[in-house]
Amino acid sequence: MTLKKIWCFIVPALVLPLCLSAADRQVGVGQGWTGVTHPKEVIVARQELMEHIELLMEPIDTLTVQPVQDVERVRQNAEIIGAVLLSVPHLFPPSTNLFDAKASQPQTLALPPIWKQFDTFYRLAGLAAKAAEVMAEAKDEPAMRRASLALRGSCDACHTLYLRRYEPPKTKESDYTFDFDSALPAK
Ligand code: HEC
Repeated sequence: MTLKKIWCFIVPALVLPLCLSAADRQVGVGQGWTGVTHPKEVIVARQELMEHIELLMEPIDTLTVQPVQDVERVRQNAEIIGAVLLSVPHLFPPSTNLFDAKASQPQTLALPPIWKQFDTFYRLAGLAAKAAEVMAEAKDEPAMRRASLALRGSCDACHTLYLRRYEPPKTKESDYTFDFDSALPAK
């Protein structure tokens, strides 16, 4: 027991405020550490946000292949995407490093290297937020087109490193050699 804890124990009334604030400052202790109390909900929240920014990207991706339809909508979407991207790295506490390579439907697709290279992950989120800001402020069509490619590139840059790639179900050798007749009821 440290000297401070002994004091907290003997004269609680005297030093209680001091003891409490010390406990509250401890990482993961006290209320509000949702990464500790609700890691699965944190994962769901970040996946929801990702899905929604994907939807907001639709008119932004489109403008690389056809003339800009609704400039105001593109700007507003880019602003929201930027705001979401600013919050992204804060939704990845270490307690959510729960990727399971063996699960057919893992609860998270966020790969463990995120927590080995968190500075890089953090920087990529910041760069993506910046790209969204540039998109929101682009003045003319060529600038908007360039900005949209850069913004999509910033999503891909992070996903390439830290998001489990989609793998279509694999056909195994045993699928071809499987004896179907033996599995069917006898005629
Ligand atoms: C800094 C890294 C980073 C950036 C930038 C980023 N993402 Fe993601 N994204 C992730 C990670 C990690 C996951 C996996 C989250 C999980 O499963 O816990 C993910 C998941 C997703 C998913 C799948 C969501 C689901 O339901 O599983 C979509 C869609 C997506 N991102 C879209 C985007 C779009 C669009 C952008 C750019 C506007 C973007 N992301 C930028 C890291 C990033």
